[in-house]
Amino acid sequence: MSILVTGGAGFIGSHTVVELQNAGYEAVVLDNLSNSSKKSLERVETITGKVITFYENDINDRAALQKIFKTEKITACIHFAGLKAVGESVNKPWEYYQNNIAGTLVLVDEMRKNGIKNLIFSSSATVYGDPAFIPITESCPKGICTNPYGWTKSMLEQILTDIQTADPEWNIILLRYFNPIGAHKSGTIGEDPNGLPNNLMPFITQVAVGKLPELGIFGNDYDTPDGTGVRDYIHVVDLADGHVKALKKIDEKCGLEIYNLGTGTGYSVLDIISNFEKVTGIKIPYTIKPRRSGDIASCYANADKAKTELGWKAKYGISEMCADAWNWQSKNPEGYQ
Ligand code: NAD
Ligand code: UFG
Repeated sequence: MSILVTGGAGFIGSHTVVELQNAGYEAVVLDNLSNSSKKSLERVETITGKVITFYENDINDRAALQKIFKTEKITACIHFAGLKAVGESVNKPWEYYQNNIAGTLVLVDEMRKNGIKNLIFSSSATVYGDPAFIPITESCPKGICTNPYGWTKSMLEQILTDIQTADPEWNIILLRYFNPIGAHKSGTIGEDPNGLPNNLMPFITQVAVGKLPELGIFGNDYDTPDGTGVRDYIHVVDLADGHVKALKKIDEKCGLEIYNLGTGTGYSVLDIISNFEKVTGIKIPYTIKPRRSGDIASCYANADKAKTELGWKAKYGISEMCADAWNWQSKNPEGYQ
């Protein structure tokens, strides 16, 4: 049984390919390498000892998709491919809507033309906007997104829901990720952002490795226990495992389902710094900066639905997330370069 993994060379995709191969699935990866390196896939092959069929193509390329669906025995698609930089999306909205929304429409069209109607989609807790309540359950109303990237996720959720309603042969699972961090235990694959990292953990690891002088904390006057932003950080290997569990749910012909993938525990920025320092013994210098536009105070999941219906629960705690992120960064100071 082959699974098409779009965006499979990226951070979450590469970790998911490891878990797929370990679970006995054949992985076919399609990635245009716009935000990744082919080396990640070579390293996945070393970890699992299995071969990955790789297509260096774009999800907007119909001819490439047709070739893949004719050549490979694809039964389902895990769709990671997309642009994800929040700030960039504000300056390049057209590029984000074109790549993420138009690309997904092409992918889904070619899937249905080839009779493949099983899809797992990478969504995000960002669709909750400033959440109506926390911990956030899947029934929490979707909110106002603060950037075009977030809107692509919110709109794609609606588009995929409408497609499944019109044609109930589709099985579509929308996975709303909270904050993935960490890396594979081997330290050979991990997060490799271009330029200055936007996200907290890669920023911390780059300070720790000496590439950046200090961390800026975006605000310490939020309505949280220590004033800094609280998030639900989840180990990327746990997140990857959630996709394998979701594939099993698709086998049950689940129709449309939505699951939060988080741990259910919120940590502040200062909590993350102190945990990182404890695990690694490295001091992280920081200064308090103004709030970052679009940020919210607190965001963490109630992930009970995934536990009950998928049999999935995050296994790794914050110490392992910090240790594994550091293991990757310290072994690969320049990422995949
Ligand atoms: P990533 O950038 O590492 O991976 C995305 C991959 O998609 C990259 O390898 C990139 O080259 C590829 N890609 C982009 N556009 C493409 C296109 N048109 N055709 C083919 N390939 C294309 O990002 P990630 O962190 O692994 O995220 C994977 C998915 O999860 C994304 O859809 C992202 O929006 C979503 N997500 C990520 C987070 C997070 O914090 N990392 C949180 C919530 C949701
Ligand atoms: N933060 C800092 N300094 C930094 C970076 C982040 O203080 O240099 C703070 C933020 O203000 C926030 C927390 O650390 O309080 C986490 O910030 P991230 O940028 O790591 O994560 P976000 O929660 O802002 O957003 C991430 C992804 C989004 C995704 C969301 C939910 O970037 O794409 O998680 O899944 F939608």
